[in-house]
Amino acid sequence: MEAPCVRVDRERGEETRRRLGDADLLADEFEIEVAEGVLYLPVEDADTVPEDLDVVVREVGARDTQDTPADLLGFEPTYERLGDVVILDEDDPERAREVADAVMASDLPVRTVINRDSKVKGELRVRDWEVLVGAGTEESEANRATESGSPATETVHREYGNEFLVDVAEVYFSPRLATERHRVADQVGPGERAFDMFAGVGPFAVPMAERVGPEGRVVGVDLNEPAVEYLRENARRNGVDERVTAIQGDVREVAPDYADWADRLVMNLPHSADDFLDAAVTIAGDDCVVHYYDIQHEEDPFGPGEAAIRAAAEPEYEVAVLNRHVVRSYAPHELNVCLDVRLSR
Ligand SMILES: C[S@@+](CC[C@H](N)C(=O)[O-])C[C@H]1O[C@@H](n2cnc3c(N)ncnc32)[C@H](O)[C@@H]1O
Repeated sequence: MEAPCVRVDRERGEETRRRLGDADLLADEFEIEVAEGVLYLPVEDADTVPEDLDVVVREVGARDTQDTPADLLGFEPTYERLGDVVILDEDDPERAREVADAVMASDLPVRTVINRDSKVKGELRVRDWEVLVGAGTEESEANRATESGSPATETVHREYGNEFLVDVAEVYFSPRLATERHRVADQVGPGERAFDMFAGVGPFAVPMAERVGPEGRVVGVDLNEPAVEYLRENARRNGVDERVTAIQGDVREVAPDYADWADRLVMNLPHSADDFLDAAVTIAGDDCVVHYYDIQHEEDPFGPGEAAIRAAAEPEYEVAVLNRHVVRSYAPHELNVCLDVRLSR
């Protein structure tokens, strides 16, 4: 398409672009082009361009503008993205609907929009969701959501080079913990035997399995049957299924089968990990690093966890705290923390 363009030497390009931008003269719908050391800056109206600048009419390409939900709403909405699912946390149904519409009208590659409908609950730590846009809802026909055959709440999430198939309506999963999982997986070495006591869909187990190498082993246990199926699938997707054993059940019952087995234990069940310390001590080998997650008041976020670990492991083990790590703020005055602890027999 033809448009009036300010023609300027490349050396003066940025200065001129800024000058035209400040005067609101640039035509944002067209691409800026460069040819033979000359920049062509498309403008809305040749007559409004300052006289010292040279204007020509030429062929220019349309610019691929990306609309974000904020562009369309006029305010910055809060949402999380998990693969092609957008997760809202809105109490007001009208506002939730408004944000969902803007998300679908934006250029984000989205199949489903869901809103939190409960806190994480019960032993399985799964939430209820309201599906605002997704396969089966009216909006999915009207918009770009496709009937892929999979549940609206199932998606593929990518994290530090791994991919995880996950259905948030069936299992616990939080993309916010990606950095923390990476911190732990980074400590794992070749040949290790690592045991994830509350494995979910495998976001600790899979990257640990990559790092233990062909000589190492990873065991992941979860009470939630769909989570264990996703864990198996995710081990397969990431090429580590031969190193990962996925077990469905209560880890307290599984523990005797792995007595004295582990070099490393992950205990990511923050509200009640202390109830599982006896099982952890059973599974721990002679020298074992434990990643113990907890949620505690900010005044003493590590004390109760350390005391519980000492009570369960001493005197059989010597307990050394390697790291006292704050993962994130959980609620006002409450912190989600991790204690990295070495147990040595
Ligand atoms: C907070 S989630 C963590 C999942 C996973 N580690 C992650 O980061 O996504 C805790 C998990 O523990 C599982 N769980 C709860 N009680 C359990 C038990 N007694 N034995 C094994 N798994 C259990 C739940 O089903 C849930 O998937």
